Parts: sequence; structure tokens; C-alpha cells
Amino acid sequence: MLKVGFIGLGMGRAHMKGAAAHADAKVVACCDIVEERRKNKDGVDVAEEFPGCAFYTDYKEMIAKEELDAVVIASPDQLHREMCEYCLNAGLHVLCEKPLALTEEDCLAIVAAAEKSDKKFMVGQICRYTPGFVGAKKLIKEGRIGELTFVESEYAHDYDHMFKANAGKEYWRNDPLRNGVVGGGCHAIDLLRWIAGDIEEVCALSVKKTLTYLPYDDTHVGIMKIKGGIIGKVFVSISCKRNYTMRSVFYGTKGTIITDNTSDHFTLFYTDDEGKLQTETVPVDINNHNATGEFADFYKTIAEDLPVSTPAIEGCKTVQAALAIVKSAELGGVPVKL
Ligand SMILES: NC(=O)c1ccc[n+]([C@@H]2O[C@H](COP(=O)([O-])OP(=O)(O)OC[C@H]3O[C@@H](n4cnc5c(N)ncnc54)[C@H](O)[C@@H]3O)[C@@H](O)[C@H]2O)c1
Repeated sequence: MLKVGFIGLGMGRAHMKGAAAHADAKVVACCDIVEERRKNKDGVDVAEEFPGCAFYTDYKEMIAKEELDAVVIASPDQLHREMCEYCLNAGLHVLCEKPLALTEEDCLAIVAAAEKSDKKFMVGQICRYTPGFVGAKKLIKEGRIGELTFVESEYAHDYDHMFKANAGKEYWRNDPLRNGVVGGGCHAIDLLRWIAGDIEEVCALSVKKTLTYLPYDDTHVGIMKIKGGIIGKVFVSISCKRNYTMRSVFYGTKGTIITDNTSDHFTLFYTDDEGKLQTETVPVDINNHNATGEFADFYKTIAEDLPVSTPAIEGCKTVQAALAIVKSAELGGVPVKL
């Protein structure tokens, strides 16, 4: 049994459910500085929802008192570095939420701590477990759409309700470092990196017309040079008046894939042996936040001593690209090399 502790009970709860669904993992303890967070939205205590789970308000006390093998860090992004370093030094395997951290310096510190440790460190880029994206990556790898030419992804969300619910409070998402590109757009950027490859250069523009109270722009478009001569584009907005989506399109020399994170299918266009364009609808499960799949991968990596599928350096490169988009937009679209 892998004994796991959880830090931060927002997204942390999804991870607890993901671990609880695993036959060989045990949700041993969790922690949140806000005592009330020990109860879920229906008022059920963690000890009841996850039988035997202890609750702490101090993660260091949790680590000292419980015999843990691993932790899942789902705290505000600003705390990731401190917590990752502490947990790795304490000899624990770590799964840390995206974005790895908010600055390049903090990301590199986590990469160094993970490399120094003999424990597994994984950054939770959960879209790598979303069925529509997993299916697209598989077909692209098999060559079904030929060589990639242009790839695009969007992170279209509306954070207005979150900011309004936290109005007047000190809220970690208000930190200018925690802008929409690094915070949420990292999903779309990471998806392009995972499927198409490393980003070499970006230029970007941004605007703020909707969430005018924010200390940063709410809408960004970034154009990228991707390794191997591929062009990329991300659209990131945290003020979209539409349903949440990560609609993504992968154009290749022989076909195209149109996919997203919330549909029960994706569309494959491909050129058949006679050179005719065919269309196929590929059914997929809807599983936007596949915390169960992500935890299962984390578990397997530890149990079978495998290389980590999304090591710290992957999270770091994604944040570096996000920071380059923000910087380019601040400079009015000047290209920024990575
Ligand atoms: N993978 C995804 O799709 C996804 C979605 C949302 C958030 N996230 C990430 O998950 C993390 C948490 O985001 P959230 O939406 O759950 O935020 P949240 O504000 O809902 O929850 C964060 C929790 O951490 C607690 N916390 C703060 N300081 C702490 C400390 N020192 N020790 C223990 N707990 C502490 C807070 O009290 C709060 O309950 C962030 O890194 C965020 O970027 C990922």
C-alpha cells in the first residue's frame, strides 16, 4: 500500500478521490490551513469520506506524525517551491499540481531538488490524461495525419465567479505573477509541447476589456516557433463568455485532428491510399479532470521504478513558455526566444 498525504483541499480533493480509487494506495492524511476545508461541500468530514484519513492544518506536522510514502501538493502556486523542496527533502515521492511554479527561478529550484532526490517527482499536467488528447497524440505518433505543420490550442475559461467570490480577501489568484497564461494557459501550452515538441520562440499580444479589476490582462494570443519547423498558436482567456473549452487543432501534411477536453468524440480528417480526404469521428470518454488516471500513472512510476512521464523539467519548460508569452505581450508583440 502506498500511503499518501494531500496538501490543499481545493483540487486536492480530486486527487484524494483519484488515490482512493486505486486498489494499492491509501489516503492516509490531508492538510489545509483552513480548518473548515476538512468538510466537503455537503458537510462530510474527510475522515468519513476517506475512512481513517487524518486532518492537519500544518503540512510539516502531517509529514512528521504520519508515515507517508508520497504527497500530492495542491496548494496555491506560490507555495509549490517551498512545499516541493520540503517534501522531497523529507524523503517523499511528490505529485505537484501545475503550474510547477510562477517564476523561472522557482521552477529551476524544483527541478534541482527533484534531480537531487532519489524519490519520484511528477508535475500534474492533467491534460496529458484527457482521453481526447491522449487519442489525438496516439494517432499523430502513428503518422495518421503526416508531419505536423500548424498546431493550436485554446484555454477559454471564465474566472469572474472565482474573483467575485474572493472579493475583498487576500486571494492568491490576484497575484500578478499568477496571471491567466501561467496559471491556466499552461494547460494549453503544455498540450502543444507534449504533442508537437519544445517551443523555441514566441510573440504575443494581450488585452483586458472584461475583468477590468484584474492587475493583469485577461486575454492573450501567442504565436510560436516549435522545434522541427512547426507553427503553434495558443489563445488563453480567463474572461470568455462561453462554455469552458480547450479546443485544439493539429494540422498535418496528410490530415487534421480537431479535439477538445469536454466532448465525447474527436474528429480525424485523413488522406486515404487513393488520395481522397476521409472523415472519421473517434468516440472518447469525457474525462476533463482525469485525476484517477494521473494518480494511477504516478503510482505505477513508483511501484515499478519507472522514469516519470512528466518530470519537473517538463513543468519548467511549460512555465518558461508561458512567461515568454506574457513578456512578449507586455513588450507589444516583440519575439522572445526561449
Ligand atoms: N489540474 C487542474 O486542472 C487544476 C485546476 C484548478 C487548480 N489547479 C491547481 O491546483 C492548486 C490549487 O488550486 P485550487 O483551485 O484548489 O485552489 P483553492 O484556493 O480552491 O485551494 C487551495 C487550498 O490550499 C489551502 N492552502 C493555502 N495555503 C496552505 C498551506 N500553507 N498549507 C496547506 N494548505 C494551504 C487553501 O486554504 C485552499 O483550501 C493550484 O496549484 C492550481 O493552479 C489545477
